[in-house]
Amino acid sequence: MKKHLLFLGPPGAGKGTQAALISEVNSYLHLSTGELLRQEIDSNTNLGKQVKDIINKGELVSDQLVLEIVKKNLNKDNNGWILDGYPRNLSQVNSLNDVLMNISQPLEIVFYLDIPDEVLIQRLLMRGRKDDNEETIKTRLKIYKANTEPLIEYYKNLSLLEYINADGDVKTISTEIKQKMA
Ligand code: AP5
Repeated sequence: MKKHLLFLGPPGAGKGTQAALISEVNSYLHLSTGELLRQEIDSNTNLGKQVKDIINKGELVSDQLVLEIVKKNLNKDNNGWILDGYPRNLSQVNSLNDVLMNISQPLEIVFYLDIPDEVLIQRLLMRGRKDDNEETIKTRLKIYKANTEPLIEYYKNLSLLEYINADGDVKTISTEIKQKMA
């Protein structure tokens, strides 16, 4: 059973939903950089104040800040982990490789959750998080395509990539992920 997972895909693909389900069943750490950043905003910390406007505009927080959060939350003591929303560009991939080398826990599988733009836009508009308005979704998608999408090829070349059709019901998708983890 694979224990070190990464969920990759555009905003609204269901990365968070699936990562929460799989991590709960297996007692894995669910490391969502988006969620950790939102917690900082909700607690009105210095970091939260620094990132609030960036997140509300749908832009990327600096690689350095995100790396600090990842280092703080990812250590050797775990039953397994799922990275959700990190890495998001090639520079973050390189930093992640260093972090994982330090804890001797290499990435074992990358799930690429694929979904048509029109479906994800509808999902996000229905959810209505602060960064789920038409303008911000457009920015998030544009940034995803420019910065994050190249990671698909990167992980494909390492033979780590598993394709998931994320345009289906939650249970069918999680069953497919569990089968591919086995
Ligand atoms: P983040 O929180 O990572 O947002 P995101 O990548 O845009 O992803 P979402 O949470 O919107 O989508 P998801 O794929 O997780 O889908 P979900 O399960 O939630 O990041 C937010 C911001 O933080 C970024 O814009 C950036 O500013 C900053 N940030 C975060 N990480 C960063 C990093 N590494 N570097 C720099 N900046 C960073 O589902 C979405 C909706 O669809 C939900 O309502 C859900 O209930 C529904 N849904 C899920 N699955 C299904 C299904 N199968 N059928 C129907 N509905 C479904």
